[in-house]
Amino acid sequence: MRTPIIAGNWKMYKTVGEAVELVKALLGGLNVGNDREVVVCPPFTALYAVRPLLVGTSVALGAQNVYHEREGAYTGEIAPGMLVDVGCKYVIIGHSERRQYFGESDAGVNRKLHAARAAGLRPIVCVGESKPQRDAGEAEPIVTGQVRAALEGVSAEHMADVVIAYEPIWAIGTGDTATPADAQAMHLAIRRTLAELYGDAVAQAVRIQYGGSVKPDNIDDLMAQPDIDGALVGGASLKAESFLRIVHYR
Ligand code: PGA
Repeated sequence: MRTPIIAGNWKMYKTVGEAVELVKALLGGLNVGNDREVVVCPPFTALYAVRPLLVGTSVALGAQNVYHEREGAYTGEIAPGMLVDVGCKYVIIGHSERRQYFGESDAGVNRKLHAARAAGLRPIVCVGESKPQRDAGEAEPIVTGQVRAALEGVSAEHMADVVIAYEPIWAIGTGDTATPADAQAMHLAIRRTLAELYGDAVAQAVRIQYGGSVKPDNIDDLMAQPDIDGALVGGASLKAESFLRIVHYR
């Protein structure tokens, strides 16, 4: 009933030329039906060049960040409407690298989510605990707290557009993936939180991705978990071969 969604987060990698090459290679090897959704999130500078290649394909375009204002004197920022204009359907919000290196707060993530949604973008909202938080046994309250804060003021009807990505910080770019069982436990905790906020029907419909060292050799076990509805893939999305294998999970 939930359509799994696999998204590639290219982070600060790929020139325009490299991005176009990667997308061409992906499209050349892609063989999926409508049983899953595929998204690529190149850097801002490559969005416009990549967009025409994706029109009419089963791959959607996403961005990695957005500002919460519609327009204005905000040097260096990108408005939600600009992402729509360039063909984005999704936008990643509140990635742990944004929180960690650029000071993004739960309140800021919430503002971005509202602004993105109002512009017609589908937010992929990232949450996740650090290693010390996990070791202290605080992972679940921290993560479900981030979910509640991010969704403040978001109505049940709008939840259809929202994707949540659970990305334990200690698993990002480290090769150290959460075990499928640990990931499943957190996804279930997130879904229970959604049920408290919005009721069961909405909670059952929201897609929750796992992210953090997703690779060709762990994707199948992760996707076999009942509450894991996809993946947000960093490093392994930068090469066509590995991302294709992940997209073609079994
Ligand atoms: P990784 O990154 O797959 O390289 O761990 C995931 C992410 O940060 O979205």
